[in-house]
Amino acid sequence: MSLKLKTDRLTLQPFQKEDAIRIKDLANNKELATILGLPHPYELEHAEEWIAIQPEQIQEGLEYPLTIVTKNDNQIIGTITLRIDKSNNKGELGYWIGRDFWGNGFATEAVNRMIEFGFNHLDLNKVWASAISRNKASTIVLEKAGLQKEGRLKQNRLLQNKYKDVDVYGLLKNEYIRAKR
Ligand SMILES: CC(C)(COP(=O)(O)OP(=O)(O)OC[C@H]1O[C@@H](n2cnc3c(N)ncnc32)[C@H](O)[C@@H]1OP(=O)(O)O)[C@@H](O)C(=O)NCCC(=O)NCCS
Repeated sequence: MSLKLKTDRLTLQPFQKEDAIRIKDLANNKELATILGLPHPYELEHAEEWIAIQPEQIQEGLEYPLTIVTKNDNQIIGTITLRIDKSNNKGELGYWIGRDFWGNGFATEAVNRMIEFGFNHLDLNKVWASAISRNKASTIVLEKAGLQKEGRLKQNRLLQNKYKDVDVYGLLKNEYIRAKR
């Protein structure tokens, strides 16, 4: 299976070892770290450790972590991951876009493509994601990609010493197929 997923403006593809520097530069951002609970400062070793485990994860079909690359200048602008729960045949989406690239529709484009991969190539029954309830950009991305809000988990995450509500979104394969007709 080729893991190069194309959209109009983007290619989603597995990380290369040498991508660590770019990932470090993009992820080493206070705003991103606050939302995602990433270490800050985000060091090169964080990126290297993450990238090192990915080939095995992909090989075993456990996780599909992909870089989001712009086609026009071949630049990594973010990442998207589909984490597979094989027992329940579902996948969880996670993603971030570098701060300088927000607001261009890139996350929505990547999420749409990853959903298609999950349903059409992996034959998942469900794709789901969660977002901090106040993270409007992320909840809007999920809604634009057709996921529906299934509920709110109160004070489900502790970020910067504050408990945050989390919204859970999901899309079933049969709903996805129906919406595409
Ligand atoms: C969430 C994130 C991935 C969105 O990336 P993006 O490429 O800017 O997303 P898109 O441009 O596809 O869509 C964002 C939408 O949210 C809207 N939006 C952004 N900030 C908003 C706000 N504070 N209030 C309301 N709407 C907002 C944008 O207008 C856009 O909607 P539109 O296309 O209808 O105008 C990016 O902001 C990010 O990386 N955030 C930090 C990490 C994160 O939250 N990851 C997700 C964890 S669940």
